[in-house]
Amino acid sequence: MKYYLAPMEGLTGYVFRQTHHMYYAGFDKYFTPFISPTKKRVLKTRELKDISPANNTGMTTVPQILTNDASNFIYTTSFLANEGYREVNLNLGCPSPTVVSKNKGAGFLSDPERLDRFFDEVFNGVDKDIKISVKTRLGMCFASEFEDILKVYNRYPISELIIHPRVRDDYYNGSVKMDVFGEALKNTSISVCYNGDIFDASDALRIAEDCPNVNAIMLGRGILRNPGLINEIKGIPVEPDSVISFHNTLLEKYLGDLKSERDVLFKMKELWSYLAVSFNDNPEHDKLLKKIRKSSNISEYRIAVNELIK
Ligand SMILES: Cc1cc2nc3c(=O)[nH]c(=O)nc-3n(C[C@H](O)[C@H](O)[C@H](O)COP(=O)(O)O)c2cc1C
Repeated sequence: MKYYLAPMEGLTGYVFRQTHHMYYAGFDKYFTPFISPTKKRVLKTRELKDISPANNTGMTTVPQILTNDASNFIYTTSFLANEGYREVNLNLGCPSPTVVSKNKGAGFLSDPERLDRFFDEVFNGVDKDIKISVKTRLGMCFASEFEDILKVYNRYPISELIIHPRVRDDYYNGSVKMDVFGEALKNTSISVCYNGDIFDASDALRIAEDCPNVNAIMLGRGILRNPGLINEIKGIPVEPDSVISFHNTLLEKYLGDLKSERDVLFKMKELWSYLAVSFNDNPEHDKLLKKIRKSSNISEYRIAVNELIK
């Protein structure tokens, strides 16, 4: 089984990916949070930094693109190929209203015919040496939409299909639809990666046992909650207190990388909304987490964190 790190906007940029790679067992692939080229095909400085080969050494990184414009996708893919990338990923899962209202991300799934025309143009236009993988939900509103969507995917040489078995309207709520995922596995010859709600090693084991045709498992929030989860799944011991060293290194790297302390605080606080569960055994957990959230500068933040993690 292969394991991939999920793209998570605002959380798993290159600083996070590099730091995780320093402390924990490696992933077979690290997907970048989506880059969203403008109509003029321009990428933001932050996006360029995230995909810069210099910031992605020693690991296999797959840049993810969010667009519904085939020529934009082809242009961005050839730019990424020139940077040395051998695979790019198309985002067909983002549920955010601002994305969906523009028919991008999961919004693109509402029109399989348009998706078909998009892939037709893309696969005629991209260099054959670069792999195109897709990260998808089951549809916009109903899981039954996936039957037609999968027929579209099956017509193209997509290198891998990463399926998050929820529809857009679910966001990340409710249970994943394993029955529809199982049907999809039966009805495609594209290599399939499972993604969704893997929070402990037994969740990953169950997918491997129940779905022997799955090529890979992608881990998202489970890694934010417990960065050592990949080691637990692979049966590789972690250093005691590795989560503390991981956190401290991440903080130092963000301080060196981001413009202001405010930005660093924002990023670290966002991480804590997941990481906090790793410290549930502290009897004052809730009070100290609140203190972290309320910290208004880095020294207050450090004091609050040290109290929680000790
Ligand atoms: C804060 C956040 C940001 C995300 N950003 C992206 C993204 O940029 N691209 C993407 O394909 N999915 C994104 N996702 C979805 C995750 O990659 C993943 O599909 C989802 O969290 C389900 O997997 P999990 O249950 O293992 O977390 C994001 C999810 C979260 C919670």
